[in-house]
Amino acid sequence: MKRDNSTTQRLFEQSGIAEGMSVLELGCGPGEVTELLSEIVGPSGSVLGVDRSEEVLSSARERLERIGAENVRLICADLEGAPDYLNDLEYSSFDVVTGRRVLMYLTHPGHVIAGLLPWLRQGGLVVFEEADTTICPGRVVAMPAHDKAVAWLHRMLEEEGVNRSMGFHLPATLSTAGLQFERIWAEAVIEGQGDQYSLGELLQLLSPRLESAGVATTSEVETLAAQIDIESDPSNIFVSGMRFCARARKL
Ligand SMILES: C[S@@+](CC[C@H](N)C(=O)[O-])C[C@H]1O[C@@H](n2cnc3c(N)ncnc32)[C@H](O)[C@@H]1O
Repeated sequence: MKRDNSTTQRLFEQSGIAEGMSVLELGCGPGEVTELLSEIVGPSGSVLGVDRSEEVLSSARERLERIGAENVRLICADLEGAPDYLNDLEYSSFDVVTGRRVLMYLTHPGHVIAGLLPWLRQGGLVVFEEADTTICPGRVVAMPAHDKAVAWLHRMLEEEGVNRSMGFHLPATLSTAGLQFERIWAEAVIEGQGDQYSLGELLQLLSPRLESAGVATTSEVETLAAQIDIESDPSNIFVSGMRFCARARKL
């Protein structure tokens, strides 16, 4: 199973993230985005990844070791606290502050970004990819198993306190942080297209979270994943989510 990172790659390229830049990545998780950033900025650049979970950071460390990324440093910290983890760095150290699907977990995302801005150089970029799941599913042919899977995922996110419309809030969030908002665009996640997890695979991957949110048991997940496979039909389009990408700049 492999996640489709092409939207994120386009976001970074179109936003001007380039070789030699110094990047602060929020909510780096298991390091997929970190790996992408490490490759883009190259040996003359650097990436500092921050996440509150030691568990995902150890997966990120393994991934980055495997590819021999020597330009990455990872720190365990809660973004909602004071950014003490940056205290050993001078102000204006970063060219870019970025992240993917992390602001949706924060209670005050604009406040968190504003608190990091002293460490971003003047003219520096702030680039985020965030999801919206409130305007989906989209389909013209009935696909009940797919609908049920999406409904389960929505309930899980709601139980976890995630902001499901974070994509829509990007312009306001970046502006209230004190940035000059420049651009937003969006891409639909179409099941079966590109190099991405299928809905059935995603359910199985998220099975422990679905169970701990009280949404579905492991055996219910297995049953629904099988029904999704049967229902899948390359001639029927099913939109399961939207990816919003935004760019802003520190004046
Ligand atoms: C959906 S994952 C995204 C991971 C990665 N950005 C990606 O796209 O593959 C969200 C990540 O944000 C992290 N996170 C959520 N709230 C956080 C907080 N308050 N402080 C630090 N990390 C946080 C989680 O631990 C998790 O790794």
